[in-house]
Amino acid sequence: MAIELAEFPPLQLLAFSAVFVAVGWLLLTRMFQFGKPSNPVGQKLGIEKSNLADEFEYPVDGDEDWKIKSLWVFPVKSCRGVELDETNVVPTGLEYDRQFMFAEKKPHPQSGILQWVFITQRKYPQMALITTKLYPLPKCPTGGTLTVTFPASPRRFPHSLTRGKFVSFSVPLAANKSIMSAFPLTSVKIWLDHPMGHDMSSAVAGELRELEKFLGAKRELALFRVCDSKPREVHRNAPKKEQLGYQSVVGFADAYPVHLLNLASVRELNSRIMDKIPELSIGRFRANIIGLSSIIGSPVR
Ligand SMILES: *[C@@H]1O[C@H](CO)[C@@H](O)[C@H](O)[C@H]1NC(C)=O
Repeated sequence: MAIELAEFPPLQLLAFSAVFVAVGWLLLTRMFQFGKPSNPVGQKLGIEKSNLADEFEYPVDGDEDWKIKSLWVFPVKSCRGVELDETNVVPTGLEYDRQFMFAEKKPHPQSGILQWVFITQRKYPQMALITTKLYPLPKCPTGGTLTVTFPASPRRFPHSLTRGKFVSFSVPLAANKSIMSAFPLTSVKIWLDHPMGHDMSSAVAGELRELEKFLGAKRELALFRVCDSKPREVHRNAPKKEQLGYQSVVGFADAYPVHLLNLASVRELNSRIMDKIPELSIGRFRANIIGLSSIIGSPVR
């Protein structure tokens, strides 16, 4: 028996088509949605309006007193940071700074043995588009949540559905020992050091494959978290253990626990390269403490 459209009242037909379109749209978008839906509990850390919003208008001349202009933590090395109005200082630097990093599996130049080696924006400039969010819950066994988001790589078909989409994942921010024991302690090379870190890749395997595509990485990527009981020691220019009573330690920062930078220094550099970069933001240097003083490059007097 043939059903004629005319047999349906127009209103019913409209409702039917609306439901059909909605279900179809849901199915299609679900198919192309990556990552786990992240519902972090707890309060998001950070400020909405940046204290650097006026960095190019703010007067840096004339005032010799050092003031703090802006405070930042970068939970994942070489990714975007979180700007704060206040923070805690812990032995490795500012709390939550450089506790995570991405690494790639590379053969050792001499032995050919595969090892994990840190990655940064020096090799993968697109890392500047990876954002991080912090939802700390210090009393919770997971310590809260770190959420990482980056643009999804466009699929060949249907292109329009992946364009402008993001991949997002969440991992425990500072989990207790028994939770972290699920993530094997693995040697990871950072500059000349080989600290042990927790390889958390098993929790975000699918998202790491997406990250490889986004960064154009030819090698396998992994996500590491510092091991709280095996911190990386700082020697070189750091004060000695005999002077301090302890050896300075750091997370996955390059060399020192805190990176301090003066706005006047960056302005001075900018004045020399104005033709190439008219407005060089101090944010590009990923410092923890951005200070203001007319005394270039000499924050400590
Ligand atoms: C860590 O948290 C888990 C989950 O709540 C709990 O079962 C475990 O006892 C905790 N371990 C330690 C060492 O606190």
